[in-house]
Amino acid sequence: MEFPKRYKVLEKKIFSKGIFSLIPIRFEDRITIMHWRNEQIYHLRQNQPLTLENQESYFKNIVSKLFEQDQPNQILFSILENGECIGYGGLVHINWIDKNAEISFIMQTNLEQNRFDEIWSEYLNLVEKVAFSDLKLHKIFTYAFDLRPKLYSILSKSGYTEEARLKEHCLFNENYIDVLIHSKINHSLTLRLASLEDENITYDWASNKIVRQYAIQKEEIYFEDHKNWFSNKITAADCIYFIAEVNNTPIGSIRFDINNIKEALLSFLLDPQFHGKGYGKIILEKGIEEVLKLKELYKIIGVVSIENIPSLKTFKSLEFQQVSEIDAYITYEKKYK
Ligand SMILES: CC(C)(COP(=O)(O)OP(=O)(O)OC[C@H]1O[C@@H](n2cnc3c(N)ncnc32)[C@H](O)[C@@H]1OP(=O)(O)O)[C@@H](O)C(=O)NCCC(=O)NCCS
Repeated sequence: MEFPKRYKVLEKKIFSKGIFSLIPIRFEDRITIMHWRNEQIYHLRQNQPLTLENQESYFKNIVSKLFEQDQPNQILFSILENGECIGYGGLVHINWIDKNAEISFIMQTNLEQNRFDEIWSEYLNLVEKVAFSDLKLHKIFTYAFDLRPKLYSILSKSGYTEEARLKEHCLFNENYIDVLIHSKINHSLTLRLASLEDENITYDWASNKIVRQYAIQKEEIYFEDHKNWFSNKITAADCIYFIAEVNNTPIGSIRFDINNIKEALLSFLLDPQFHGKGYGKIILEKGIEEVLKLKELYKIIGVVSIENIPSLKTFKSLEFQQVSEIDAYITYEKKYK
């Protein structure tokens, strides 16, 4: 029998970035994969070492069948570096109703020591393309025995959040150990220019207690004042005001007030019900990307209260430089020319 080479459910066959690529799992990699699994049995959900017989039968009877299915429960890849297989993994326990899946991954055992961070990060980037860009899943997650703490910082850098710790969930060497679930949601956040229709929602956001707490002007805002201010802002040539939406729901805004030397002061906020989901970094990143398409800017500046930890962290995560700290406000800037 010829082993299949393309998943019916995927639009793309190969997912690549630089020297790394994910290609549908290859029959020729099955024995190497078996060895890796047996060497790393300690962190896998596998009780017994695999035998050659097990592996042959798994590839022939289970894996080969996944390729033709409209909704396979797993999609597996060989991970190649310059054409050589250095790992395998994919999406497993795919839930087609709720559009989520678990990420699985094993790298060649002798790369774990020195290249663990690099290869995991490259892999996460590629598997995300499969899950979010090709399959349009909503959420992907890892389910890991609490045995490899160095994995958590890699997940965090790649935008995953720790979602749950299942206490003493698995019996391991006669001890009960925790299981950690990290997840990432498909934030298909889009930006559009603000219009008059947004005057109510932007008023609700601006007058919200949590938002006001860190604002530079802390006084109460009256709707009439907001209306005037808002209609001026959306028509002013020196202001670019975006509304961010997820699934057509407005979730926040980002505004750039530009001076005559091409510096923009930015302000951004999220509706409080969308805090803590990683949208802050996305709105800032996309806002900057979009404003630079519309205006030539030399510098973008943000002023943040020293108590506003989420905002401070968001600016730092996008490599803004701190330039001053005055009266409990930190000024960040990033240069573009
Ligand atoms: C600023 C804002 C857009 C950030 O939104 P967000 O993405 O929901 O922020 P998060 O809650 O995810 O926090 C961002 C980071 O700070 C961390 N953080 C949040 N509160 C924290 C706290 N009290 N202590 C330590 N870290 C904290 C989060 O864990 C997250 O870290 P990570 O990126 O490593 O995962 C949002 O808080 C907001 O709209 N605030 C009101 C308006 C505002 O302050 N705008 C900015 C004016 S400069």
